[in-house]
Amino acid sequence: MTAPPAAGPPTAWATADPYAAALRAGRGPLFLRRADGWLLPLDVERWCARADPVDREVLDRCEGAVLDVGCGPGRLVAELAARGRTVLGIDVCRAAVDRTVRLGGAALRRSVFEPLPGEGRWDSVLLMDGNVGIGGDPRALLERVAALLRPGGLLLAETAPEDVDERVRVRLTDARATAGAPFAWARLGTPALLRYARGWQPEGQWTAGGRRFLALRSRSASSSAEPPNRTAVVSSQRVRKPSGESPVAKR
Ligand SMILES: C[S@@+](CC[C@H](N)C(=O)[O-])C[C@H]1O[C@@H](n2cnc3c(N)ncnc32)[C@H](O)[C@@H]1O
Repeated sequence: MTAPPAAGPPTAWATADPYAAALRAGRGPLFLRRADGWLLPLDVERWCARADPVDREVLDRCEGAVLDVGCGPGRLVAELAARGRTVLGIDVCRAAVDRTVRLGGAALRRSVFEPLPGEGRWDSVLLMDGNVGIGGDPRALLERVAALLRPGGLLLAETAPEDVDERVRVRLTDARATAGAPFAWARLGTPALLRYARGWQPEGQWTAGGRRFLALRSRSASSSAEPPNRTAVVSSQRVRKPSGESPVAKR
């Protein structure tokens, strides 16, 4: 098995006080700030609200067991759990994981680049709200997502509204305090993500509520792996604890 790509320690989101404070308060302001002063506003209020009709349309497309990568405060995990779906959120930020669990979802404090439950068996992976930017290396992230999905699994990704293809170094800021070291992030429009997704099968793209989405199917293989079920997820959370991480799961 190939080792997950290294994308550096996920310390920025995990340790940024402005992000944790915004999640606890349920509101911003919060931005990603580039060295040249450019600010990308982050929609904390929407992330902390319930899943809206645009989110629900994405969730309607999910197949089988769902892994929400960078689940944030957990509105999508909570909505899927309420629908009775098998779903796990992962996030490097403790405040995000805690909030997801409080909403009734299962969540694990873990980077997407670390070992995860159900590797190679997830039916669907979500990369929403700009999470295609995680790690700042879209090819590495797509490769990692392909390894998490079962062969022929579905990636549902939100892309930038503009046709951009940017690798940036940013810091998290609430416009008063800027926290931590700069970290790598990417912003991709749909055409750019399609360019990086060589070997993936485009399954559809759409725009709703001013947001853009792309569905990609991973390469299928002749052997079909057993899909993960809730028992498998929970038991692997119990047995696979990387040092320093505390899995949190709803039972
Ligand atoms: C742009 S925000 C998206 C928020 C989220 N999708 C929501 O619904 O609220 C990015 C999220 O990804 C998380 N994140 C960043 N790097 C990560 C990594 N390597 N693995 C997992 N999560 C990560 C951050 O902590 C943050 O919650």
